[in-house]
Amino acid sequence: MTLVTKISRIAILASLLTCLAPGAWAASPAPAQEEEPAIVQHMKQINRSLRRLRRQAADAAQKDSSLELVRQMKTHAQAAQKEEPLKTSDLPEAERGPFLKAFREGMGSVIETLTLLESALENEKFDQTEELVKKLFDLKKEGHDQFQKEMEIG
Ligand code: HEM
Repeated sequence: MTLVTKISRIAILASLLTCLAPGAWAASPAPAQEEEPAIVQHMKQINRSLRRLRRQAADAAQKDSSLELVRQMKTHAQAAQKEEPLKTSDLPEAERGPFLKAFREGMGSVIETLTLLESALENEKFDQTEELVKKLFDLKKEGHDQFQKEMEIG
């Protein structure tokens, strides 16, 4: 094989590989997805962890994993507390301040309960975990009845 033939074979192979590269023939990039509001993203993360905790919080063998979940939930709850419910902008201006204050207090109760759950887990008081997880579900229900724009989801 001459050098020229060798080079052209390599060139053909290279262009074939480029064509096969994933996405190389996509007509146009996917349309940008509309971003969910930060408050919704944080709530969804809290929800996922809460569902897992319901199954494992009383299990001593899963203590470390439960602690990790609770700490992540706390971070998301603190971040959500700084956001504004979507309903806020629908309210008359005079009502917004008290509405936001009550929302932040509601999220404060979630954070407090998570702190109690964290210390119950750290101290291996597994008889307390079920009650605290139940309390989180109650706070979710109350919070959504009062602050969520639409019907409760999840
Ligand atoms: C641990 C308890 C909680 C969980 C697991 C939770 C979970 C969720 C979930 C799954 C959503 C729906 C996201 C979507 O798909 O649209 C959501 C939205 C929301 N939650 Fe929570 N939540 C909790 C506590 C609370 C509390 C205590 C409040 C109020 C003080 C609250 C206020 C809201 C608001 C305002 C939204 C919707 C966004 C909006 O309409 O502005 N949540 N939450």
